[in-house]
Amino acid sequence: MPDSVEDRLRRRVLWAMPSGLYVVGSAAGGRVNLMTANLAVQVAVEPKLVGVAVDVASVTHGLVAAGGGFSLSLLAREERAVVRRFVKPVREDEIERENGGAVVSMAGEPVDVHVTGAPVLARAAAWLDCSLRHRLLLGSHELFVGEVVAVGGPEGDLPPLLRMEDTRMSYGG
Ligand SMILES: Cc1cc2nc3c(=O)[nH]c(=O)nc-3n(C[C@H](O)[C@H](O)[C@H](O)COP(=O)(O)O)c2cc1C
Repeated sequence: MPDSVEDRLRRRVLWAMPSGLYVVGSAAGGRVNLMTANLAVQVAVEPKLVGVAVDVASVTHGLVAAGGGFSLSLLAREERAVVRRFVKPVREDEIERENGGAVVSMAGEPVDVHVTGAPVLARAAAWLDCSLRHRLLLGSHELFVGEVVAVGGPEGDLPPLLRMEDTRMSYGG
């Protein structure tokens, strides 16, 4: 059945909900991934919990579930091009590792690893490393809720950060 007027309106309204744009890092069993995501938000103040809704069919979903954590890289507003690189899984041949196996770069982007093992973009304006505390299966997506166990960023003000509205992309709806 074709979309009704209401279906189209609902999609446009959902797309229009303001959101940030992040890169979610995940790792498990020697595998790593980075995924562009906008369905991410702080969900509790004490403890410090952040939720991200992850497509159950994605590589990231399997890695967060198995690895027990995830990272969020927050990008400066001019870093639009970076999120385009992570709208599909990073292939193994795009991952550069040290001799010891530690990941150095993914899809040409240098990465660091902090507490959970999930990769963080070295060019992130700030980042959060989160340990998985709660899971809620919602249908197409699972909400992973993690406690912030490490954080990085500048000592002074953060630069203006990348949001969905800075791009021509949309997701959800
Ligand atoms: C602007 C934008 C925002 C996205 N936000 C999310 C998101 O919040 N959650 C999600 O599961 N996928 C999101 N995606 C889709 C994933 O980036 C993409 O499907 C990814 O390749 C799937 O993840 P994987 O690499 O872990 O398989 C978004 C895509 C775009 C273009």
